[in-house]
Amino acid sequence: MKITIIGTGYVGLVSGAVFADWGHDVVCLDVNQDKIDKIKEGIMPIYEEGLEELVKRIQKEGRFVATTDYELAMKHGELIFICVGTPSNQSGAADLTYVFDVAKNIGELLPENQYRVIITKSTVPVGTNHKVKETILKNSEGRKLDFDICSNPEFLREGTSIFDANNTDRVVIGTETDKAFEKMKELYNHLETTILQTSIQSAELIKYASNAFLATKISFINEISQICERVGADVKEVAQGMGLDNRIGGKFLNAGIGYGGSCFPKDVEALYRTSSEKMYDFRLLRGVIDANERQKHYFMEKVWNKYGSNLDGYVFGVLGSAFKNGTDDTRKSVALEVIKMLRGAGAKIKLADPAALENSKRDLGTIGMEYCEEFNDVFDKSDAVFILTEWSEFANINYEKMASKLKSKVIFDGKNLLNPKVLTDLGYEYHSIGRSSYL
Ligand SMILES: NC(=O)c1ccc[n+]([C@@H]2O[C@H](COP(=O)([O-])OP(=O)(O)OC[C@H]3O[C@@H](n4cnc5c(N)ncnc54)[C@H](O)[C@@H]3O)[C@@H](O)[C@H]2O)c1
Repeated sequence: MKITIIGTGYVGLVSGAVFADWGHDVVCLDVNQDKIDKIKEGIMPIYEEGLEELVKRIQKEGRFVATTDYELAMKHGELIFICVGTPSNQSGAADLTYVFDVAKNIGELLPENQYRVIITKSTVPVGTNHKVKETILKNSEGRKLDFDICSNPEFLREGTSIFDANNTDRVVIGTETDKAFEKMKELYNHLETTILQTSIQSAELIKYASNAFLATKISFINEISQICERVGADVKEVAQGMGLDNRIGGKFLNAGIGYGGSCFPKDVEALYRTSSEKMYDFRLLRGVIDANERQKHYFMEKVWNKYGSNLDGYVFGVLGSAFKNGTDDTRKSVALEVIKMLRGAGAKIKLADPAALENSKRDLGTIGMEYCEEFNDVFDKSDAVFILTEWSEFANINYEKMASKLKSKVIFDGKNLLNPKVLTDLGYEYHSIGRSSYL
């Protein structure tokens, strides 16, 4: 099939590359010339395992073209995927400017009398696909366009997105016509997974409801961690015991400093806004958002309790700034927020991250920061070490050996990554979340 992707970011680039890998003929478009030039040279704008090799291969095989040429992209695809960003606006609702910019361009440039399916993969509030259709028609200036709209939300996880695209739990296809559904089914039919046909509105809401539910699990276990600290329980044990019930499942039950990233915070907030606009007070979701906001402050209380609120003269090693492991993405990373709070109180920070140092430099600048290529360097004469991203590499550090480099043997583990008993046996003062018997 001939496929056009508009917006070559995490979702667009990975989807485009995977579709080409499945044998389709893909054109990926972006307005960012620099990004497109880099992709052509085989330099990936994002860190994602296996992506560079894949994109180099499909470009060489002639099945993947990166471009900024809208006309070419519109002529090419029988399936046209919209994958641009939908960040939060100031009120917390989804900012749909990029989506409608694209819809306008489609209206202006789509060839006449050639059937196309216009698919929104970006996460958009209910009703957006229909507004995309209106915008396309409004900008078509009377030309005879032949198209259907489709909502095909994306569920990939950064860090494992290529694997996810090939092994997805489900494909959701919301359409108004069977013709569009059949075209979409043709694309995904080879996957051993459920292909769910829904209305467009249901497909749009499935994405938000799924992310909101996962965020709820995280906030729930974070709230439980607070109880654990007050009653002497261990949240890891509690989560394990809960997760063994297959009605609950163990995933997304890791207590920590709260959820961040480019999706959960904005999607949960956007769903809350949608429900408010529809005159429904979604109180449970408000609680999820509030609990998440509180969680990093609970973590910081441990710091204030130990050092007071003035951190002048302290040097802290920080392991991790990406919003989660496996990615260089620092958008809405809680790790960055914690670093800013420590630095704001006067501390100097030595930061290491396996993938996110470049993005961190952009977000944090140089004042009060030292960026370390080697993990071991963050231990050098530091007053404490903070673990803020759950990279497995950090669990494998030799903490016994590192102890002698530190000024004092103190760890604040914001991800409950390490074994408290092992660390305390090594003489560390070990702070974590919801494991009160170890501070
Ligand atoms: N990142 C994820 O893990 C993930 C997962 C599922 C769904 N989503 C959703 O997918 C959408 C895209 O997210 P992302 O993380 O890939 O965003 P991103 O910011 O990485 O990429 C968006 C791209 O769109 C380009 N763009 C903006 N305006 C454009 C236009 N008019 N024409 C062409 N290109 C344009 C930007 O230059 C950018 O490269 C969002 O709605 C997001 O919520 C993201």
